[in-house]
This record gives sequence, structure tokens and C-alpha cells, in this order.
Amino acid sequence: MEPKYIRNFSIIAHIDHGKSTLADRIMELTNTIDEREEKAQLLDDLKVEQEHGVTVKSRTVRNVYQAEDGHQYEYNFIDTPGHVDFSYEVSKSLAASDGAILLVDATQGVQAQTVANYRLAKKNHLAIIPVINKVDMPSADVEETEEQIIQLDDSLAEEEILKISAKTGQGVKEVLEAIRTRIPAPKGDLKKPLKALVFDYLYNPFLGIIAYVRIFDGQLKSEDQALLMAKKISFQAHEIGFFTPEMKTTNQLSVGDVGYVVTGLKDPQSVRVGDTLTLKNNSAENALSGYEAAQSVVFAGFYPKNNDYPELKNSLAKLALNDPSFHYREEVSDALGPGFRCGFLGMFHLQIIQERLKNEYGLEVLTTAPNVTYRIHLKKNNEVKEITNPTQFPYFNDIDYVEEPMVNATIEVPNELLSPVMKLADQHKGLLVDMDSKAKNTELLYQIPVSEVAYQFFNELKSVSHGYATLDTEDAGYQKADVVKVEVNINYSPIDALSFIVHREDAGRLTQDLVHKLKYSVPRTLYPMPVQAVVEGKALARVDVPPLRKNAAVSGGKKSVSKKQDLLRRQSINKRQAVKNNVALSQEVFNSILELK
Ligand code: GTP
Repeated sequence: MEPKYIRNFSIIAHIDHGKSTLADRIMELTNTIDEREEKAQLLDDLKVEQEHGVTVKSRTVRNVYQAEDGHQYEYNFIDTPGHVDFSYEVSKSLAASDGAILLVDATQGVQAQTVANYRLAKKNHLAIIPVINKVDMPSADVEETEEQIIQLDDSLAEEEILKISAKTGQGVKEVLEAIRTRIPAPKGDLKKPLKALVFDYLYNPFLGIIAYVRIFDGQLKSEDQALLMAKKISFQAHEIGFFTPEMKTTNQLSVGDVGYVVTGLKDPQSVRVGDTLTLKNNSAENALSGYEAAQSVVFAGFYPKNNDYPELKNSLAKLALNDPSFHYREEVSDALGPGFRCGFLGMFHLQIIQERLKNEYGLEVLTTAPNVTYRIHLKKNNEVKEITNPTQFPYFNDIDYVEEPMVNATIEVPNELLSPVMKLADQHKGLLVDMDSKAKNTELLYQIPVSEVAYQFFNELKSVSHGYATLDTEDAGYQKADVVKVEVNINYSPIDALSFIVHREDAGRLTQDLVHKLKYSVPRTLYPMPVQAVVEGKALARVDVPPLRKNAAVSGGKKSVSKKQDLLRRQSINKRQAVKNNVALSQEVFNSILELK
């Protein structure tokens, strides 16, 4: 299709404001799908997405729209995730778009991710169509939402803001027309050599690596010899096509088109997202600017549970291909053997990767306690060491001082809930920087260590504010912190995979809690086992895990002997992990650390 009849756009919003529902309505009105096809939501097809009711991956769909001007248009939309942990997906999608529909839920108004995504769209110079959704709901406050949108962007006129119900379909036709009239057609030169942005990859067990592309210049035909510019990898395109949302083959993709290329490549490590695709024999001179790499915020170790290290390695590579904001590298633990240190954008991201490993690859992993990056200034030569794993924490006497990452956290809370929210921020070492009270809500600005907000904070905030408080965080650099490493000794031997880093002032309380949890989670042996939590060479807390023999013998009789044998048998099976001092480290042991508050 001629580029003037093509529109490429993303749908962006805060979580749950209705992106996927609007996407479904658009596909329906353009007859891309019919109502009967629509199961729950056609686009969120990953199992994790259906289970959590959130979008994790962006989806691309080509629709044919019969416009009011009498012409047919090709509408390529990319539905994006709303959760902050998946914002990297959004930035990738926006780089492939010319415009964005900014969807705002009329019952909630402008929220943290509305603002963040709006800024991302502006940064990418996209035309923005503001749309208020859920106007059918009794609790909708359209006027207030409209005001908030204008506050966000005062160049917008009230008439430009569309009001719809993605659920009932009210107003969605106007959105389709606005896309045509307000979003520019793709620019580009058909005669120039091919230049296409690879904005996503998918690993297909039968077809190998599939690249998702947006064509900026030139043309790609099936069976062309193509070239990925970053690592100069060439391949013959096995198949090209577009999504409806299923894959549909075509003969060519031209300027402005969004589609896929089956590369035939098999090695996930040979390619990277943000690369430029061109033709081997008629190459573009320069690559497109691509993306900045995502910075991991939370790190944790993944260790194979069932001696399936090679499978795990393979699967992580495929997952990282599909999700370039997930990072991993190999590491070896004394206690657990070979595994991986993984980097995530947040705890929800960690959880989703764990679940995708299980759902899509049938793999379960042992996950160690998560931590952030620390900058350690050593006494010797003013050396600075950045560590992402507690095992790398230097000997305490060698340390001059440590810095930890901070965030500026903006919390908006209804006035009547101010006190519990401030108490919570205080418990998490938040430093109140600013406070702005409005009629109904107060906006609080805190400086908080990432280690305090990254794990449980969001859930706790939701709970103390009954879901009404919102949280937006922004990187605030590093700050000096008094932190120490806690080592866990079992039978007087340190278990490296169980060490973690905490603020010194919390060490006493947390280590007491920890040993009491470990008393029940460390598997028992035939002998009593001391468990100690050690900080800077001193045992701050200790507990003895009682022996198995005593327990089994206490009840006496024949039955108990078989029970005991059974326990012993189970215990030996449990030694799948590299076992030190007869301690099998189960996920429960790691959870003892994870659940500390
Ligand atoms: P994420 O992808 O997880 O960010 O969510 P989303 O923005 O895609 O939201 P989704 O489309 O999944 O909608 C969230 C919930 O709001 C669902 O239960 C929808 O049925 C509901 N919903 C969406 N649009 C409307 C609407 O216009 N009116 C009403 N009443 N409900 C709506």
C-alpha cells in the first residue's frame, strides 16, 4: 500500500486503563477479527498474561480500515504493556510508531504510567491522540480527567480529547477517524536501500528466530538476502509477512509497513533488538539509532532445580531474545553449583520471568534473595567496585564506604489516608522532600533507597491505602549507605547463596527473624544443626535446627520406623542440589530471606 494510506501507532496507558479492550474493538470494527473469535482478549495470549490479567508483551496487528474519505487504510497498531516493569516494551514499540493513542481511565484520571508513557511518546516526537476511556462507568469523572490531561499537555484543546467506552464501543469510530486525520503517514523513500528497525524478536521452535520489523526506507521481498547491521549477520529471508494477529505471509514489505521476517537463524545470542535490517547486496549506509539498553534494577540468582542446567541456559537465551530488558550471565555458587545471575526491571518482572520459564519451557528454578547494585569504595587505592551479588561484598575491614541506588518517589494519596502512607514511607527509610496538598489528594515526594521500594513496598502501599495511592519512581543516583553483609552459617560453614545485604540498623532485628524462619525451613538431618547469622565476623543470631532422629523416634513403634525411613529416603532425594554439610537448599530456605520485613 502507498505510505500515504498507512498509519502506524501504539496504544499507551497506565495499567488496566483499557488498552487491550480498545485494541479488540479496533480489530472488530476493521473486521480483522469478528466478535465470535474474541475469546477473552485476543492479544494477551501468553499464559502469564491471562493469569495476571496484564499485558507483558507488545503485540502488533495490521488492520484494513475503510475510512470516511472513501479510501482504504492500513492501520498497524502495537498494543503495549502498562505496568512500570515492562516500560522497556513500550519504548521499543514507540520507536516503531508515528503516533500514539494515550488512553486514560475516567474513573482514575491521569496516573503515574500515563505521565511516563506520555513523556516517552513526546521524546519519540509522536502525534498524540488523548482518549478518555470507561465513560460508561457510573464513577467516571470525565471533566476532572479532561482537566488533568490538559494539565499534562497545555497545547491540547478540550475538543481534541475523545471520550469513549472501549467496552461498549461508544466513540471508537471517532478514534479510528482521528488516527487517519491526526497521525502522520510514514515518511521514507522506496528507492533507497532497505532500512528496517528490528523492534522485537520471537523464538519459534520450528521456524527459529523471527524478527519484527518496521520498514523506514526501501523494500524487502521474500527470499531476499538480508543483513543485520550490528554484527553483520546475513541470512536469506525464509518468509515475510504481517500479523492479523496471526502470522500472514506476503511477498513484500515496503516503506511504512510493519511485519515479520523469518530469519532461519537459530542462535539467540547472534541478534539483538534495535538492530537495523538491510539488504546484503544493496546495504543502507548507516544504521538506525536503535535503543538504549535497559538498566537492571533488581538482581537475583537462578539455579536449576532438576539438574537441567543446559536446558535452563538455552531457555534463558530464548527469553532474553524475546525480552531484552531481562539480562543474565553465568555464575557459580559453592552451595548450588553453576547457575545464573539475572537482572530485572523490578520484582514483578522477576516473577513473570520465573513463570514464563515454567509455562513456556517447563523449567523450575531456585531463586536466591534479590538485591540491588551497590557501589563499594575500598580503602586501598580509592578503588570503586560495583557489585550485583552479595558474594562479591568485600571483607568489611577493606571497605571505606558503600553507596546504594536511590529513587525519587512521588506518592499521590487521598488526604484521609495520608498518615498510614507517611508511616509506611518512614519505615522504608523515605526522606520527605516535598509535600503538596490539594483539595482531595496530597502529593508526597520522597527520596527512598531502591532496596526499600523494589521488593514489597508497592504491595504494602496498595494495602495501607486500600488501592488508592499511586506511586511513580524516578532514578535519583547513588547515596552513601551504612550497609552490611549478612552471612548464614549452617553447621559453622558459610553458605554463599544465602548471604544478603541489609542496612546496619536493621541487621539485629532481621537476623533474629531469619534464624527463626530457618529453623523450620532448613531440612533436618540426623544431628542438631546450628544456624547462625553472622555480620562482620560476629554471630548476631543463632538457632539449632533439631535432629530428625529424635523426632522420628519420639512417637515409637513400628509405624514410626517406617516413617523415619521414609523421611530419610525423602531427605536423600532432596539432595539434588550441591549439598554442603548435608543441607539441601530448597526454595523455602530462600523464601525465609525473601519474606523478611
Ligand atoms: P494492561 O495491559 O494490563 O496494562 O491493561 P489494559 O490497559 O490492557 O486494560 P484492559 O483492556 O485489560 O482492561 C482492564 C479492565 O477494564 C478490564 O476488566 C476491562 O473489561 C475493563 N474495561 C476496559 N475498557 C472499559 C470501558 O470502557 N468500560 C468499562 N466499564 N470497563 C472497561
